[in-house]
Amino acid sequence: MKILFLNGPNLNLLGQREPEVYGRTTLSEIEGALRKRAAKLGIEIEFKQTNLEGELVNWIQEAKGRFDVIVLNAAAYTHTSVALRDAIAAVGVPTIEVHLSNIHAREEFRHKSLIAPVCIGQIVGFGASSYLLALEAAVNINGN
Ligand code: DQA
Repeated sequence: MKILFLNGPNLNLLGQREPEVYGRTTLSEIEGALRKRAAKLGIEIEFKQTNLEGELVNWIQEAKGRFDVIVLNAAAYTHTSVALRDAIAAVGVPTIEVHLSNIHAREEFRHKSLIAPVCIGQIVGFGASSYLLALEAAVNINGN
């Protein structure tokens, strides 16, 4: 099994960025924890971040036939990007939406996710652990 983790804009700043909202764990620490868990489970992961919307679209398109599941933290593009939603729908790779913060408990403009309707489900609000929960969900995606 191969899982692709994609991270959108400003997530490269995790650890220093609004720590009261996003915590103090860095993106590379999250990647490290995921790699440890994935090794225990005997699965392969790839983990990437970009600030560019089009690059996320390209990576989603390239995942077809190469990955079993995508775990996507689209960050701010979650709330704005028809292009990302269309890419997920077009490619058909099962996708899990993940957020560190509980977007539903924050500003009104974060309550709407344009990608949620084309994702299997959403994991929000558990900080860095949201990613580990998404990994568990991805592994069990066909087993339920
Ligand atoms: C986020 C939530 C988004 O609303 C925000 O724009 C982010 C991070 C999260 O993981 O909590 O950049 O995706």
